Amino acid sequence: MRVLELYSGIGGMHFALCESGIAAKVVAAIDINPVANDVYRHNFPETILMNRNIQSISAQELNKLNVETILMSPPCQPFTRLGLKKDALDNRACSLLHVLSLISELKSLRYILLENVKGFEVSQMRDKLVDCLERCGYAYRELILSPCQFGIPNSRHRYYLLAKRKDLKFCFKQTVLENDLSSELSGLLPKSQHSLLAEKSGKINCKSGRICYTLNNILENVEQSKYSVPSELLRKRAWVLDIRTRESNGSCCFTKGYGHYAEGTGSVYCPFPDETIRLKYDEATNHEDDSDKKTQILSELKLRFFSPREVCRLMCFPENFDFPEHTTDKQKYRLLGNSINVHVVSRLIFLLCTEGENK
Ligand SMILES: C[S@@+](CC[C@H](N)C(=O)[O-])C[C@H]1O[C@@H](n2cnc3c(N)ncnc32)[C@H](O)[C@@H]1O
Repeated sequence: MRVLELYSGIGGMHFALCESGIAAKVVAAIDINPVANDVYRHNFPETILMNRNIQSISAQELNKLNVETILMSPPCQPFTRLGLKKDALDNRACSLLHVLSLISELKSLRYILLENVKGFEVSQMRDKLVDCLERCGYAYRELILSPCQFGIPNSRHRYYLLAKRKDLKFCFKQTVLENDLSSELSGLLPKSQHSLLAEKSGKINCKSGRICYTLNNILENVEQSKYSVPSELLRKRAWVLDIRTRESNGSCCFTKGYGHYAEGTGSVYCPFPDETIRLKYDEATNHEDDSDKKTQILSELKLRFFSPREVCRLMCFPENFDFPEHTTDKQKYRLLGNSINVHVVSRLIFLLCTEGENK
């Protein structure tokens, strides 16, 4: 299968394709960000990677590549909860409109997978996408899924649209956004290293109601001081941190601001058990807000950010995924925050390419 990877970033979709077990080749990857492209090239030196604006791509060029599948995760800022939600009117949505304008002309195209933030499902862009697919003769399914539904201790709810030409049949019926992995879908998926690990050593995750493995499994031995939560942040924001321990079986979504801002950008790690954290916080409340004493008590908890490698593991990048030596931690967090959960997408590619009987 000949795959075009659009908005390729650091190659999350390419890794997912490899993990899916589908015999496929990425015939071209396209992204406009040189830092992301450096990482992509470092990991996939053989793949043709174009440092280009997707709006400059023509149907003729893609037809020469005989593209059968498009995997894409377009910029999410036009649709994100925290953004201005300019939707299809946002400049950053122009390239996706351009992609839609090409679909009817792509002769060998059969499959499409799109990933975006939760919220896309109610956007005008989603309506335009679905209209275009219907006009061009594609059937589609939409899902909202999170890694924690697959046994992985991370919450990252994302919108996925899978489309295939109408003469090809889906292997599952589900067309509604259920915010969960239905039993129909989980029944179709083979066991993975993640589900097996969760079954072996996991606990019920209160968010997903499913069994997830503990963070113990993704921790690396890092120098605490390299990733410590700065005292200024402890002083001002200690009460909004999402603190996790090695026994936790969940973590919050890591966004591109992780390691820089702490509130709402991802969880932080504490090497002590929950009980110690509770006692230290209780002790700190006896001191004035913003006081040095309070900050000093909380600093004894040795809170730190999860390292980029740990975030890679939570996002299910394989261990051989690596960054070029000159990539800074800030760039790593930024790139990972923009990327995808490799395992979840690999399951979706598998489902997309498995033939079934459902129109
Ligand atoms: C949500 S990220 C996708 C990340 C990717 N799936 C990964 O695994 O890293 C969106 C990507 O689209 C790229 N991008 C945004 N607008 C673009 C355009 N007009 N042409 C090419 N790339 C674009 C950004 O540089 C960014 O890397």
